[in-house]
This record gives sequence, C-alpha cells and structure tokens, in this order.
Amino acid sequence: MKPALRRIGVLTSGGDAPGMNAAIRAITRSALARGVAVTGIRRGYAGLISADFVDMNSRSVSNTIQRGGTILMSSRCPEMYERSGRRRAADNLRQAGVDGLVTIGGNGSIRGALALWKEEKVRVVHVPSTVDNDLPGTDVTIGFDTAVNTAIGAIDKLRDTAASHGRVFLVEVMGRENGHIAVDAALASGAEAVFVPEAKAEMKLLMKRVQAWWQEGKHSLIIVVAEGDEGGGLAAIANALKALPGIELRTCTLGHIQRGGSPTAHDRVLASTYGAAAVDALLAGKAGVMVSLSAGRLRTVPLTVGLKKPRPSDRHRFALVNRLA
Ligand code: F6P
Repeated sequence: MKPALRRIGVLTSGGDAPGMNAAIRAITRSALARGVAVTGIRRGYAGLISADFVDMNSRSVSNTIQRGGTILMSSRCPEMYERSGRRRAADNLRQAGVDGLVTIGGNGSIRGALALWKEEKVRVVHVPSTVDNDLPGTDVTIGFDTAVNTAIGAIDKLRDTAASHGRVFLVEVMGRENGHIAVDAALASGAEAVFVPEAKAEMKLLMKRVQAWWQEGKHSLIIVVAEGDEGGGLAAIANALKALPGIELRTCTLGHIQRGGSPTAHDRVLASTYGAAAVDALLAGKAGVMVSLSAGRLRTVPLTVGLKKPRPSDRHRFALVNRLA
C-alpha cells in the first residue's frame, strides 16, 4: 500500500541556480492540484533544522517562473553533517505533518537528502539543480543552460574590447571540479582555447598556437579557464603567456554573475518538468530517488547514483574548441 501523502515540504539548498523558482512553482502547483498541501522550507537545510517553515499556496509562486535566485532562499549547512542536526530536521518535519520532502540542489543537497531517507525514513525526492551540470545519473541540471548563456554574453562583450585593442583575454568561469560551463561557453563563443580540470593542461601547445596567431596578425584571443583547472588555473596560464613578447594580456573572472539572472526557456521548461515529476514520484510511493533526464527519458534514479563520481564534461566538445579555433 502506498504511504499517505497529505503534505509535502520543499527546499532549495547549496549554490542557487536560475530555474529553482520554476521548480518550486511546479512542485507547489502540481501538489496542490492533487490535493496535497505544501510547506516551503526557507534557507535550505538550515531552515529545516530551525523549523523556518512557510505555508505555500498557489499565489505564493505567482510571478516567479522568470526570476533568478530562489524565493525560499538557500544555504550551505554544516549542521547537516551532524547526526543531531539531521534528527532535529526530521523531527521538525514530523511535527509539521510533512510526510514527503522535495529537495532541490546539487551534490551536497543529495548527501543531506540521502541521510534523511536512510537514517530517519524521511520520504525524499531530489530535483537536480546546479550551474555546474556535474551530477551523475542525469544528463542535465537546472541552471546550467542559463549559466552558459550568461558566460557567453560576457565573453561576447570581452571579445569586442579584445578585438579593439588586439589583446588576449583569459576568462575564468565556474564549475567546481568540472569543465561543463567552460567547454560549452568556449565552444559557443568561438574561444581560441579552453582549460578544464578533466584534461591535462597543454601549455606548450597553447604557447605555440598563440605565437603563430600573433605572427599571422590575429591578436585578439579568448581563452576560457574553468575555475577548477589543475594546471594552476588562470594565474599560471597568465604568467606563462606574459612571458611571450608583444602580448597584451587581461584577465576576467566571471564569478557569481553566472549564478544569477532570469532563467532561459530551457531551464524554465526543465525545472517545470523535474518539479512536476518529483511530486508524481512521491505520489507513486517512491522515495530515496532523484528525478533525472537520461538520453531524453524522464525517470528516477536512486539518490546513491547522484553521489557517484561527478560527471565529466564532454570530450568531443572540448576537442572541437581547439579544432575550430
Ligand atoms: O556549485 C555551484 C558553484 O557556483 C560552483 O561553481 C562554485 O565553485 C561554488 O558554487 C561557489 O560557491 P559559493 O557561492 O558558496 O561561494
């Protein structure tokens, strides 16, 4: 027999990502439409532990699908690493009459969700959301497409000034230990090179190519560097390039602008689809799972799958950046 589902909780946790509001909206409205009440949990797991709860109705999510950030707010919560914190979180849910929980976030959020499910039997379904796009078990996470588009917009502008001055620009993008944003932003902006943690830094090759371009009269170059690049990152590449005669170099770290802004149509559609699927999964009696899209198929996978080794960026796209430069 399926467990009763009278009220669900929803929270956003970890780094925010554009599209989180569209997911909250879809979860709230699809639950309400099925006669299930919704409790919004503010500030992620921190608000779960301190019972910072708000009752959600259909109007609570009006006018939010187009907004970046998260109306429920988010946090990174060290107390969730403690057994006592997780026990308090589960007690708070029970006291509020919440019998299903939807968590929205990246791998830190999945870790919290899995612990709540395993230790406290909280019926959790996770919605994958991080600009990094590195979660295993799904092909795509909410926020990635918007972050790439934000990066491209910035790089296009940097290209204008690079071309006007005949300069080399090193542009650092987010992505933690993976290069998904770097590879797609580099390919889509026509960058001359890209450095990612998943591939060995080919510094000698870069120096050779830069010199050749310089001699040919191609002086405006864009080199995209993922923040987690292990070859020393932006600073090491900048130092190496500065040694080349005649090169004028500037650097730009895009930083948290990649986490903000109105979500793209892709992220709004993805978040709406994932959010509704999470409620469907809870209603179908599933728990301890994450919704996912795999080769175009919407499904659920165990939370443990989402905690495996982070998914690396696409090697073919990485190679294309160099081939098309
Ligand atoms: O995981 C998303 C992300 O934006 C990473 O790309 C970045 O390394 C990190 O979060 C930054 O975290 P914070 O906002 O806590 O500084």
